[in-house]
Amino acid sequence: MDAHATQVQGMFGRIAHRYDLLNRVLSARRDVAWRRAALNMWSGTPEDVLDLACGTFDLGLEAVALGKSRRVHGCDFCQPMLVAGAAKRAGRPVTASVGDALRLPYADGAFDGAMAAYGWRNFGDPLASAQELRRVLRPGGQVLIVEFLRPTHWWPKTFYATFGAAVFPAVGGLLAGDASAYRYLNDSIKRFVSLPEAVQILERAGFTDVRSLSFFGGVSHALAARVPA
Ligand SMILES: C[S@@+](CC[C@H](N)C(=O)[O-])C[C@H]1O[C@@H](n2cnc3c(N)ncnc32)[C@H](O)[C@@H]1O
Repeated sequence: MDAHATQVQGMFGRIAHRYDLLNRVLSARRDVAWRRAALNMWSGTPEDVLDLACGTFDLGLEAVALGKSRRVHGCDFCQPMLVAGAAKRAGRPVTASVGDALRLPYADGAFDGAMAAYGWRNFGDPLASAQELRRVLRPGGQVLIVEFLRPTHWWPKTFYATFGAAVFPAVGGLLAGDASAYRYLNDSIKRFVSLPEAVQILERAGFTDVRSLSFFGGVSHALAARVPA
């Protein structure tokens, strides 16, 4: 793993115990609605779905609850995040494995669906990680990415320049004892790809039928696409 990945892994390890609480507080619970709306971009009920960067399993559990997956295979390179979410997945068809987004520990075509919520921005290489998601999907499989993308319009730009810059680190410091992790959150969004770039990357990775949704005026996004059948 390179220095960036090691730093990201350590950071999520430090905030894992307060991760869910911070998500709910900083988004005023909108994160729950955004994952749900994103999952509704998928058609049918894929059998085996990879939840990459699953963290504490919120996306995978929502997918099962909505009938958007029969079985979810959570994968994350930060063991403390998997531990923090362990009680939530008890008794549900959601498994957990430790693995890196750039070298997924799965065979080609292993899944009918693959998804990642708020992980892609952290993977270090957006194209290589999209290609890995493409590799582990069977022909006709669906992908879903929920992410904070670099804002290009005035409202999300203003949101991140004001609320994101001031409130994220202040609340992160107060509730998780780690202001720097929430400063990283805001900085990583400004450095990441924009929506048109994200669409291009998914197409370059071999996906087709790329569709997007934006939430809260472009503060968050979801992208869904397919592997050609
Ligand atoms: C912001 S959290 C998102 C968690 C969850 N998907 C959610 O919606 O709440 C980002 C997650 O990505 C994981 N992550 C970051 N880089 C990764 C990588 N290269 N490989 C695997 N997981 C990674 C982190 O450990 C963390 O759990």
